[in-house]
Amino acid sequence: MSETNKQNTNTNGIIEERIRTGRDFIMKFNDVEGIPEDYRTDQDMKKPQPPLTKAPMTGQITDLPKDFSSLDIDNDFLGIINRRKSHRVYTDEAISLTELSYLLWCTQGVKEIRGKSYATLRTVPSGGARHPFECYMAVRKVEGLEEGLYHYLPMIHQIERLADIEDMKSFISESLCEQTWAVKSSVVFYYSCVFYRAEWRYGVWAHGPVLIDAGHVTENLYLASESIGLGGCAIAAVEPEPSNKAFGLDGVEESIFYAMPVGTVKEEDREAEADFYAFLKEEGL
Ligand SMILES: Cc1cc2nc3c(=O)[nH]c(=O)nc-3n(C[C@H](O)[C@H](O)[C@H](O)COP(=O)(O)O)c2cc1C
Repeated sequence: MSETNKQNTNTNGIIEERIRTGRDFIMKFNDVEGIPEDYRTDQDMKKPQPPLTKAPMTGQITDLPKDFSSLDIDNDFLGIINRRKSHRVYTDEAISLTELSYLLWCTQGVKEIRGKSYATLRTVPSGGARHPFECYMAVRKVEGLEEGLYHYLPMIHQIERLADIEDMKSFISESLCEQTWAVKSSVVFYYSCVFYRAEWRYGVWAHGPVLIDAGHVTENLYLASESIGLGGCAIAAVEPEPSNKAFGLDGVEESIFYAMPVGTVKEEDREAEADFYAFLKEEGL
């Protein structure tokens, strides 16, 4: 424990304990220490496998275009890698349904089913091909879609409309820990984890890989957005409770834990973007 962490330890060692727990989680997610030798995961015990994806919740389906040839996709791979950055200033315009379709395909699209129904192979990697995520959306401005809450159905590359939302901007803000800049994005992607999908195979060792997997999803979303001139910013500061309530999740078997607003951006906002780092100067950092 560093001196700094110790100094921050005010009462009862709670802070020190939380820090230690966090470190242990990172260091020991593969650890076998303390796990009974005869422990078997549910897959080892031949228990039935959970569904690869969640069944539609409302069935109010919208087809997504699968032909991306109308998009002006920048195929300069290194250029996209070098240009990728977090965008928090949006011009508040609509994106097209094909653009939304492209972003969903690049982040969670199902390319193949392995075995009879053992695993999906997707555009992102996932430990053991478990793909434990569901993707929900707060759609503000997407051509052809009414504002509201949606859910991606990766097996058929469609989306379903879940619900209206009374005050979209308040919802986005509250669910993203009052990061109000996000309310001008065109769509906010919310990622949930369906825990048992990973736990069935990996049991007590499931949870580290889940977090690692999430990084692949948003990195693809960063790069895909950049390749069609849109911008976004990954967000870990998510409030699970309002998000779960809005998308109808129980917060026990499935919970939102990560999000990313994506919106229209313009080069001239470079300075406004830089304002997010104004504190560096103010604090002499
Ligand atoms: C896991 C993760 C969580 C993040 N959470 C937030 C967040 O809650 N709010 C925010 O403004 N930026 C967030 N970011 C964006 C980072 O601040 C950003 O990636 C970092 O400052 C580097 O800037 P760059 O992405 O432009 O290279 C997050 C990024 C990642 C990968």
